Amino acid sequence: MTISEQQWQELAQAANKIMTMAYAPYSKFKVGVAGLMDDGRIVVGCNVENASYGIGLCAECGMVSAIHASGGGKLSAVTCVDQHGNSLMPCGRCRQLLWENGSPTTQITTPEGIKTLQEILPQAFGPDDLVERREAR
Ligand code: THU
Repeated sequence: MTISEQQWQELAQAANKIMTMAYAPYSKFKVGVAGLMDDGRIVVGCNVENASYGIGLCAECGMVSAIHASGGGKLSAVTCVDQHGNSLMPCGRCRQLLWENGSPTTQITTPEGIKTLQEILPQAFGPDDLVERREAR
């Protein structure tokens, strides 16, 4: 799927807006993420920390929850930003979340330009691995 310049701009705008809603009193590191779904809708998420530091939620967790709460589907494009609006790479755990809710060709902005999920999570473990392992027994 080709993402237009206007769609990238809308994603950046949505990610920056939701970033301001982040609850990050401990790290003081606000994150916003926006995803363009295959049906055209935009879903967003922000990080939500906790006094029990280790259980804080990344912005991507919120977005994935919003995907399912608003009807499901697959991500076509993703933009994740820091508090300055700069492109931020999702952490390893969140790349796995994006993989499950996107496709190998889902596009994502990175500090090195637009990449695919396959490029930022090579040799990913995914749903297909479960099926193949089960059938191999
Ligand atoms: N964070 C995210 O929300 N997404 C990422 O992919 C990287 C890290 C958050 C978690 C924590 O609230 C803050 O950034 C600092 O690590």
